[in-house]
Amino acid sequence: MGDGVLQELGRLEALARAELTAITTAEELQALRVRFLGRKGLLTTILRQMGTVPAAEKPLVGRRANDVKAMLEASLDAHRETLAHASIAAALTDRLDMTLPGRRPATDGHEHPIRQMTRRVLAICTDLGFSIFDGPEVESEQHNFEALNMPADHPARDMQDTLYVEAGACQRLLRTHTSPVQIRVMLAQPPPVRIVAPGAVFRRDADVTHSPMFHQVEGLYVDHGVTFQHLKGTLLQVLERLFGEGISVRFRPSFFPFTEPSAEIDLGYHRDAHGMRLARHGAEPVTDWLEILGCGMVDPAVFEAVGYDATAVSGFAFGLGIERLAMLEWGIDDIRRFYENDLRFLTQL
Ligand code: PHE
Repeated sequence: MGDGVLQELGRLEALARAELTAITTAEELQALRVRFLGRKGLLTTILRQMGTVPAAEKPLVGRRANDVKAMLEASLDAHRETLAHASIAAALTDRLDMTLPGRRPATDGHEHPIRQMTRRVLAICTDLGFSIFDGPEVESEQHNFEALNMPADHPARDMQDTLYVEAGACQRLLRTHTSPVQIRVMLAQPPPVRIVAPGAVFRRDADVTHSPMFHQVEGLYVDHGVTFQHLKGTLLQVLERLFGEGISVRFRPSFFPFTEPSAEIDLGYHRDAHGMRLARHGAEPVTDWLEILGCGMVDPAVFEAVGYDATAVSGFAFGLGIERLAMLEWGIDDIRRFYENDLRFLTQL
């Protein structure tokens, strides 16, 4: 009886090998697997007859059955690999049509409007003789506040609701303005200083004209005999080169702990259907003003903090809001649009 089972196992093996060579698809292969090795498959059917095999022959027949099963599984797996490789190779040769035109890389992208505006401002300032400097976005309280004449209990700190990233003795924070770069530059070099410093700044406020992250360009000019006239002339130059002549510029007295006297500059605008538009003399009336920068003469306390002789040098500083300028340039009504990454918005600018 054992011989009969052995013979059937032999036939099964031969049959499976023969059929396997004709298989060309994964579906056919799966069907074959089920037919030979499935729970109700041919091998199972043969093994049902094990009960009729004499006890002495059982180990031999059993071993043979296991071998056949293992061999079949291995051949099926190997064939599956072969099919997979063949189908990849076929796919590759099929699609490689050398006559098709190449895929064009997207070249219609452009700089983000914030970058564009920053670059414009920097180009104008470097034209006027300023060099570009960089500072870290994570700052020490010393650079961001103390050296700028804002000690821990100074009420002006309240205006800049701060995002602290490290507590304890040496507190670190996301800089609330680019003014700490003034400190870094003055600590690193003697006067004269003529620098601009672009970058992101962070505050805890958000509405249509405020965002928790926005961009400034800081300016600092320190030399012998720098006056408010230089400040005014320089900033008017920057704004007129940026927006053209005929814009409405308003100097408004203000306060910053690190400048004295201090001012803010507003630009006159009016609204149209889409958003803010810069008002131009003789063209549109000014219906409202948008603050675009803070400025002033460097406070002697700041010179003291960096080791400059306040009796020998003077200087002016300014901090310009890039988003605000971009809103006026392109007539944008909501600052949050800059950060939503909506291509329908970005491709218009
Ligand atoms: N740092 C100030 C702000 O962010 C702006 C400023 C810079 C004012 C330089 C005066 C001088 O509000």
